[in-house]
This record gives sequence, structure tokens and C-alpha cells, in this order.
Amino acid sequence: MRQSQLFTKTRREAPKDEEAKNAQLLIRAGFVHKEMAGVYAYLPLGLKVLENLKRIVREEMDAIGGQELIMTSLQRKELWEVTDRWNDEKVDVWFKSKLANGTEVGFGWSHEEPITDMMKRFINSYRDLPAYVYQFQTKLRNELRAKSGIMRGREFVMKDMYSYNTDEATHTAFYNSAIEAYKKVFARVGLGDKTFLTVASGGAFTQFSHEFQTISEVGEDTIYVHQEKGIAINKEVMTDEVLAQLTVSRDELEEMKSIEVGNIFNFGGIKSKELGLFYTDEAGEELPVHLGSYGIGITRLMGAMVELFADEKGMVWPEAAAPFLVHLVSVTPSDPAAAAYADALYDDLMKAGVDVLYDDRDARAGEKLADADLIGIPARVIIGKNTLESGKIESVYRMNGVSTLVTREELLALAAGAQKQHRSSHAHG
Ligand SMILES: Nc1ncnc2c1ncn2[C@@H]1O[C@H](COP(=O)(O)OP(=O)(O)OP(=O)(O)O)[C@@H](O)[C@H]1O
Ligand SMILES: [Mg+2]
Repeated sequence: MRQSQLFTKTRREAPKDEEAKNAQLLIRAGFVHKEMAGVYAYLPLGLKVLENLKRIVREEMDAIGGQELIMTSLQRKELWEVTDRWNDEKVDVWFKSKLANGTEVGFGWSHEEPITDMMKRFINSYRDLPAYVYQFQTKLRNELRAKSGIMRGREFVMKDMYSYNTDEATHTAFYNSAIEAYKKVFARVGLGDKTFLTVASGGAFTQFSHEFQTISEVGEDTIYVHQEKGIAINKEVMTDEVLAQLTVSRDELEEMKSIEVGNIFNFGGIKSKELGLFYTDEAGEELPVHLGSYGIGITRLMGAMVELFADEKGMVWPEAAAPFLVHLVSVTPSDPAAAAYADALYDDLMKAGVDVLYDDRDARAGEKLADADLIGIPARVIIGKNTLESGKIESVYRMNGVSTLVTREELLALAAGAQKQHRSSHAHG
């Protein structure tokens, strides 16, 4: 993409009404547009990041047997009354409205009820199980506060997966494979060593669920981390009983602020019983289907990545998520030979299938480099008069500022290699 064609522009000043670093940087760089508090539009650069995150999550969900679908945003009141979750005292984030004929409807803040009800059409016998379904959905939640930028939206993208199994044992096996898949997702976006499997409240039987919490000072949660074991306990459930279950002692744990990027739940047979999702087993007995639910906040994850990776100059994206892999910056665009060189290099990078943003704008070098720092594309390739004189291209790695000089051929090979390694779909067996 040629930057001169990009309709969004960067801005120097952060918006006054925005406290969160993630939203300040994303707005300044033109990745998102703030429609109102907690409600953000995703512009071309931001949408690319979102799509990259979705691709990674999709690959890992598919790898454990997930099948993608999209449920609806408008939901039936009756369904949520069955499980007593229509009540505003029980669920305090509902947006509700009415059809023209007066029928009340809700805007989807979650989808366990409608998905489970829908599955009644398809699950009758043990032969129909297991089934694993997931979606990427814009959830609507009337959050009381929205001060964390895109990390707490009133409208936000979530990946939610639902598992349907015959019994506790097959459920548990899938639940554990989901934990491993989640670990892969967070590792692939560069947050593996900062994200901990955390015991939290909620869920059937044990009364516990698992969250994935990413350590950050700006997080809204507090957890107690066991670094060596790579696990944590949410403050909400920090009791002697939980410590004993995990065979850890309080003084081995470190209190930290964190961001809840994912949450997985075991509902057991409870919700299926309430909603009437039963199957007949081999002996002809009717039993409730075992349900699990597995969320990842895609937009929250994007915000967390800005918070954790940004430096004083701007955002820093890892290759897997970055809107582009290479930022080709022509610093002397008024020099015809240098401009022609940059144009030709851009064409070759495009031909090699590299995701490249080409700053071909007629602007000062300082301004362009500051914009490149703000946008945070991993590899910056600088083309100027010097390039032609030396025959060497300067390539700067955004993450650590390390600069190397390479030949044109070396650059093309490096970029194509990085593209293949970080941005092509991972093949799963
Ligand atoms: N308002 C929001 N904006 C962005 N992401 C969110 C929001 N609420 C939840 N998420 C993400 O969706 C995932 C699954 O949703 P879940 O229902 O577990 O959220 P939650 O526990 O209500 O979140 P929180 O405690 O932060 O309000 C969360 O782990 C989080 O990553
Ligand atoms: Mg949660």
C-alpha cells in the first residue's frame, strides 16, 4: 500500500478525552476512530491488526476441531429468561430494545444461550457429539466505565467457542486442549511469557473457571503469580482452599496487576438442562450435554499489545500482528533517482508477496520517520540519496532500533523469508 493513498493521517497530539495509552496511540496513528466513550471504529491499519489476530486465533481453534459460524446480535428475551440471565440485577451489561410490535429483544453480550438452543436442532444422539463451534462477534455490553481504551469497549470483538461433549472426561480432555491452544495464541502474539493461566471464579462443579491474565500495570485485575509454575490465582478467589489445590503457598506468590485477555468456563450439564439440550447415549438413556465456553477478547488483546510493547516513540508490533511487515520509507522523494529506486523496490517487495507500506509521500524525512515510529511496523527500510551512492540499504528493526546495511538482493530475501515465517497460515496436520 502506498501511504500517499492512505486516507488516514497521523496526528501529533493525543485526544484530550482519552486517558488510556492504547487508545491515545491508536488514535494518533489512525488505527482507530473514537465514536464515543468505549466505542471505536477500526480503520484500515487497525483492521489489519485485528484481522491478523483473528487469523492466529482461527488457526488455533480450527486445529483443535473448532467450526466457525456467526450467531446473531439480536437475541430473544425468552431464552435468557429460562436461565435467569435476562434480569438486569443478574446481568448488568444488557443493552435491550423493542421490535416495532413491542417484542423485547436483547443485544448479544454473550452467546451461550442462543448457541446452545440452536444446537438442539443438531444434537440428538451420542453420534452427534462432540461438537465444537466458535465465532468472532461484536459483543455489546453496557459497561459502567470505559477508561481503558479499546481494552474495555461497550462494543468489542470477542472470539467465543463452545464445546459440547457427552461427559466430564471427554469435556476435560477438550478443555485441556483449549488451554494449550490459548497458550499458543498468546505465544504467537508475543505475550506468552507475560500471560498466566489463572484460577478465577465461576463455572459449574468446582466453582472455578480459568482466565488468561497478562501482567500489566494498567490492568484492572489483581492476581497472585507463581512465576516458575507459570500459574496464577485471581484475587477474587485467593483462599487457602485454592492454594492447597494448586499446592502452592502464599509466600511463593507475587501480587501483580493484570489484563484478563481470555476466560474459559466449564458449565457441566447445568445450562443444557435449563435449555433442554439432551442426547441419548448408547444405552438409550437421555442425558444433558456437557458444555464449555471459551472467550478471547480480540480487541482487548490488541489494546494489551499496544500497552505492553509501545515505547516513548510509539507502538511496536510483533511480525505476526503488525499491519504491515515492512515500512519502506523514501526519505528523499524529491530526488528523482532515489524515488525511482524506492518505486522499483516497492514493486519487487509486492511481487515477492511481502506486506509493505510504502511511504512515498512528499514530506520531510523527520516527519516520516516519526510517523514510522508511531505506527510501529517491525522492519523499516530507508531509501535516500545515500542508498544509491553506497549501494546498501538501511534496514532498522523497530523493536530494538538495531540498524543493518544490506544489499537489495539480501533485503528481498530477508523480507520474503520473514513474510513466510510470520504471516503465512501455519499448516496444521
Ligand atoms: N468490555 C470489554 N471490552 C473488550 N473486551 C472484553 C470486554 N469484556 C470482556 N472482554 C474480553 O472477552 C473475554 C470473555 O468475556 P467474559 O464474559 O469472560 O468477560 P468479563 O469477565 O465480563 O470481563 P471483565 O471482567 O473484564 O469485565 C474476556 O476475557 C475479555 O478478554
Ligand atoms: Mg471473564
